[in-house]
Amino acid sequence: MVKKKKACVFISGSGTNLRSIIRNSRDYNFPININLVISNKKSAAGIYFAKKFSIPHIVLEVSKEKFEKIALKELFSRKIKLICLAGFMYVLSKSFIRNFRGNIINIHPSLLPKYKGLNTFKRALNAGEKMTGCTVHFVNEKLDNGKAIIKKRVSINTGDNPEILKKKVQLEEYKAYSMAIRKIYRLS
Ligand code: GAR
Repeated sequence: MVKKKKACVFISGSGTNLRSIIRNSRDYNFPININLVISNKKSAAGIYFAKKFSIPHIVLEVSKEKFEKIALKELFSRKIKLICLAGFMYVLSKSFIRNFRGNIINIHPSLLPKYKGLNTFKRALNAGEKMTGCTVHFVNEKLDNGKAIIKKRVSINTGDNPEILKKKVQLEEYKAYSMAIRKIYRLS
């Protein structure tokens, strides 16, 4: 049995990646436990999964400055070692990232370094790409720029639109996120 590290997931939306990480974290051999969920949106549907799995959760729908101040206090007091961003739509400040350097990871819906930022599927379709996918990467001070941990590729077929691509890619995201967590703790 591994000694699990304490982790927190930051969300802003539906939380389906959160759900898959929680499910995988129930495996006795998974390297982390989700000890906290923080949402910057009261309306985030993903809060439901924190409740369902009895994980402490905090909603901080406040300015970014306040969000970071309160979140840091909670993270330190709960001895959180890893922050997983999962559909978290705030860009964290440099000083926040410095506090957790090397210990914040994110999932992004493109094959980075292509299509950083928003509307990744629309942009990939407009560019005539044949492949898209997702990347789990370390977070550094530049947007969607840290070292990649895992990438999963998904082919773009005739007739695909952003909604279809989102569904196809999210199925890969659910696998990729937990694979990346295992990989960073060298358990894969
Ligand atoms: C995920 O598909 C993730 O790749 C994307 O938001 C979605 C959240 O879904 N993240 C970004 O666009 C970050 N730039 P979820 O809330 O159901 O996990």
